Amino acid sequence: MAVDVGVNVNVNPCVGVAILAVVLVLSCLSPSSSDVKLKVKGVTNIATTDENFICATLDWWPSNKCDYNQCPWENAGILNLDLNNEILSNAIKAFNPLRIKLGASLQDQIICQFEKQKQCPTMRKEDNGLFGFNVGCLSRKRWDEVNHFFNKTGVKFTFSLNALIEKKNSNEDQLNWNPNNAIYLMKYTVSKGYNIDSYELGNELCSEGVSARIDSVQYAKDITKLRHIVNSLYPNATRPNVLGPAGFYDKEWFDSFLQHVGPGVIDGVTHHIYNLGAGVDRDLISKVQDPYFLSKIAQTFKDVSTAVKEFTPRAGAWVGESGGAYNGGGKDVSHTFVNGFWYLDQLGMTSTFNHKVYCRQSLIGGDYALLNTTSFIPNPDYYGALLWHRLMGTNVLSISHDSSPYLRTYTHCSKKGSGITLLLINMEKSTSFNVFLVNDMNLYPEELASEEKEKEEEEEEKEKEEEEEEEEKLNLMDSLKREEYHLTPKDGNIQSDVVLLNGTPLELTKSKKIPELKPKIVDASSSPIKVAPHSIVFVQINNFNAPACAPPTK
Ligand SMILES: *[C@@H]1O[C@H](CO)[C@@H](O)[C@H](O)[C@H]1NC(C)=O
Ligand SMILES: *[C@@H]1O[C@H](CO)[C@@H](O)[C@H](O)[C@H]1NC(C)=O
Ligand SMILES: *[C@@H]1O[C@H](CO)[C@@H](O)[C@H](O)[C@H]1NC(C)=O
Repeated sequence: MAVDVGVNVNVNPCVGVAILAVVLVLSCLSPSSSDVKLKVKGVTNIATTDENFICATLDWWPSNKCDYNQCPWENAGILNLDLNNEILSNAIKAFNPLRIKLGASLQDQIICQFEKQKQCPTMRKEDNGLFGFNVGCLSRKRWDEVNHFFNKTGVKFTFSLNALIEKKNSNEDQLNWNPNNAIYLMKYTVSKGYNIDSYELGNELCSEGVSARIDSVQYAKDITKLRHIVNSLYPNATRPNVLGPAGFYDKEWFDSFLQHVGPGVIDGVTHHIYNLGAGVDRDLISKVQDPYFLSKIAQTFKDVSTAVKEFTPRAGAWVGESGGAYNGGGKDVSHTFVNGFWYLDQLGMTSTFNHKVYCRQSLIGGDYALLNTTSFIPNPDYYGALLWHRLMGTNVLSISHDSSPYLRTYTHCSKKGSGITLLLINMEKSTSFNVFLVNDMNLYPEELASEEKEKEEEEEEKEKEEEEEEEEKLNLMDSLKREEYHLTPKDGNIQSDVVLLNGTPLELTKSKKIPELKPKIVDASSSPIKVAPHSIVFVQINNFNAPACAPPTK
């Protein structure tokens, strides 16, 4: 029995003849599979990312930061974090290197103890303070510890500076930034030889701001000052990048800021994403599985990328902070397998829109952490991030299919070796996909081609193309050996903290190291790529002829 529920969907036969409603219900629940023709254009890339696209954040929250009657930060804030924890350092080392951004909400209240001040007071709760806390302090001793730890574990370090010194109140948003504290920090940092990848200025002060705001023209002036300071304190060879404005995208504010900042000031345009809403939202679990919902935010990525191209083409767009759901994430969702539908899709989507870096809130702390806040054991998204980092290269290619929107697909040139790596995300709970690859070698982008060609010619071309595609499909399947990484949740429970790689749970080794991530080698002469329901699959194909990537190995 074949039931037509859309394009090419075949439902498995049910026992006997369907007379009873029970049987009908069963047939709806039974797994089905669907053939998908996936078209990859490997001639040119459509975007590029930074070599180190994956980034995770560390935060300042003290352990008494609480939301919704729980306090999910525990000792994960940078002032309390146990830097001697073996799992923490092994988890970071596995990336070799991992980008880490230290910043977020409380950064605009942090004074660095590098001037004459003797005291370095502990941050306390204060109703009138920003985000409910008073001024905090980064001691020289802690700065040394953090930098030694980052050096030892191989971190590309972004440090976000306090932008509100001398302008605490939102109605003073046109006062100049006082950079003295930052200058002391930098002089000390240079003298110690600590490597800083980039400095960012302020947190979520754009537009109306979250807890405070800065006018766009004023912010442009402040960050220009930061650029001058960085240039004067750092020699050419080790000069950190300058990033901003680190807030939510708002066209008017961003356009004005980018117009005023001028060329050569910023290296990265950072913006923040919390498109899933509040961590307590009961719909959170549906949102992360809803492609229509997930796609809405694409407009923001496109807008930022367009603005950057127009006003500051030398600076790339970065997602500087993104936790998905705000206020620490969702208790039963953000640290579980299902969150990967949102997270890995975000990585794919933002790279398509030419973003250079994506910083996940957080490495540790909150329910949205990559590492469990108490045990430090990696959550499923940690492994998704690590696979991305190891497999996905900087060149982003065009990929498309006409099948279910619940199958999300991305492809880049492979990071190592030749050919391409696919990311396939199946959000369907009972449909598996048999994916056939089509190598589309058409030289011109479709829009361009249509301008240049007569309509009739186009029609002919199309027919020919389709024939070729069919041939191509067969040829490809003959010659390809693939390395497949199938991620599925433990016991089929999408809210599990444990993820399986090719059927085996990913667990730390006896010596608390990150396990090896071994692919399944598939001799592809016969088979399509099988993407199980509720799974995330990376596939590396060395022998795929994509001129935009390294040449295939013969
Ligand atoms: C660690 O410090 C050493 C000595 O200053 C330096 O050569 C090396 O590049 C640093 N490594 C990282 C990852 O920062
Ligand atoms: C710094 O590097 C840039 C680009 O590499 C170069 O054009 C410039 O002359 C250098 N400046 C100094 C002071 O060495
Ligand atoms: C961390 O792990 C513990 C023990 O497995 C678990 O009870 C807790 O819910 C986890 N916390 C988070 C935020 O994932």
